[in-house]
Amino acid sequence: RGYADRPLDLAGRSVLVSAGGTREFLDPVRFLGNRSSGRQGFALAETAVARGASVTVVAANVRLPVPAGVEVVPVETTGQLYEQMTTRAVDADAVVMAAAPADFRPANPLDTKIKKAPGRAAPELELVENPDILAELVTQRTSKSPFIVGFAAETGDDEASVLEHARAKLARKGCDLLVVNDVSAGRAFDSADNEAVILGADGAAEHIPFGPKAALAHAIWDAVVQRLEAT
Ligand code: CTP
Ligand code: CA
Repeated sequence: RGYADRPLDLAGRSVLVSAGGTREFLDPVRFLGNRSSGRQGFALAETAVARGASVTVVAANVRLPVPAGVEVVPVETTGQLYEQMTTRAVDADAVVMAAAPADFRPANPLDTKIKKAPGRAAPELELVENPDILAELVTQRTSKSPFIVGFAAETGDDEASVLEHARAKLARKGCDLLVVNDVSAGRAFDSADNEAVILGADGAAEHIPFGPKAALAHAIWDAVVQRLEAT
């Protein structure tokens, strides 16, 4: 099925998507960041609009054109992303956490620039853990609304395969779907294409072959719509 002839199967639905990568400031000019471009989140937003949804994207440091018909709320830090997502999720039918929030932030950010000086030792960086937005969205929801989708970039290791790690993460987070990327070879970041497995809390596993992020986005909405309509 082509993109153009998708039904308006998200008409009347309100969806909330997070996109991009957060920045955690050390001082007014420096931050810890990550490589997430926001492409997958924006592809989710654009395809949801095409399928008739009312769409809000909370965008962390995304430098991409805003898709037509999408409301964009810009944020920088994980704290700001947390505020926006937990407030706005209340009114959404589906929430997708496609953003990459930093797991940790500097414990003691300065409001003036860190200075070097001859003979002065390099600063030590102490980190504290950020709140887990996805887990909080699951905790705060009433009954099963909104429907919640998480993402996971995983690598296989000595302990478990990519899919084993992902199954455990899905159970731990308590969301309804987990979209898993294998990033072993540094793939997926900042590219126009993606490959993934969509895992369901209901036990489903669907492999989406390497292709445009819009195709993965449509496959995710297919999985969401199917389950929204079943409830
Ligand atoms: N996530 C979140 N809040 C965080 C960290 C992650 O909401 N502070 C979300 C991400 O947006 C993603 C999902 O949780 O949808 C999984 O992120 P991931 O980094 O894979 O999971 P973590 O629980 O942070 O585990 P890991 O130690 O593997 O990074
Ligand atoms: Ca993480």
